[in-house]
Amino acid sequence: FTVIDPDEGFLACGTTGKGRLGSIDLIEEIILDAIYALEKERDLAGKTVLITAGPTEEPIDPVRSITNKSSGKMGYALARVARRRGATVHLVSGPVKIDVPQGVAFYPVSTALEMQAQVEKLYRDADVTIMAAAVADYRVKEIAKEKIKKDSETLTLELIKNPDILASLGEHKNGFLVGFAAETENLTENALSKLKKKNLDMIVANNVAVEGSGFGSDTNIVTIVTENESLELAKMSKDSLADIIIDHIIKNGGTE
Ligand code: PMT
Repeated sequence: FTVIDPDEGFLACGTTGKGRLGSIDLIEEIILDAIYALEKERDLAGKTVLITAGPTEEPIDPVRSITNKSSGKMGYALARVARRRGATVHLVSGPVKIDVPQGVAFYPVSTALEMQAQVEKLYRDADVTIMAAAVADYRVKEIAKEKIKKDSETLTLELIKNPDILASLGEHKNGFLVGFAAETENLTENALSKLKKKNLDMIVANNVAVEGSGFGSDTNIVTIVTENESLELAKMSKDSLADIIIDHIIKNGGTE
């Protein structure tokens, strides 16, 4: 048995102290953890999995930035499930509004350059790396030191290209490398070309134009693509999908 300690706070008897029901998220995670231990092998035990999640945020001036609609849900689901399956998980995340999964090493970052620096530090020790983050392709060339005034009718920002973190990992390949592809058409063809161009072992393509898939939703609709196989999956929760992605990583030799 596992004892889940009570939380502190305002109590039903009118006083404040230790005695509240523990957080539901924590209780759920401990129950799921026990179920995984009973029903599934901890098939990632002894392995280190590096996961990126969420958007990056590229500053324009002290109060404004360019970002995207990634909620972090897909990457956080992968982190939760990898940990339940016994992995040591490093989660590098852009700014999101969801709770950090229990038991993972968490590295918050903001810009693409910060994400790249953090990922490069952790990459050498990772057996499996999964890039689920939606990294901004461009950043503002000159970040204004003061808030930009609305004096003129138009405003032009010069953008410069961010490094492609995943492609640079593929250039000095270490372990099993998984990318995501946010596509709106020709899913498999575009994903396969990204897989080859970035020297990946697997790519998960989501059609971000379809409802219930991609950015922000609790569900996703993806095709898992490797060099020899393409597997179209039905709509499912991001947690269930995370389990299937990890099954495929293991099936394709990602933990050998
Ligand atoms: O966070 P959610 O709301 O749950 O949404 C999940 C998601 C839609 C963000 C996720 O499933 C997803 O598709 N992530 C990748 C989005 C993306 O940036 O796709 P892309 O096709 O532009 O990039 C391809 C791959 O290269 C990705 O693995 C990306 O992390 C990586 N990349 C892209 C640009 C860049 N400068 N550096 C990168 O490493």
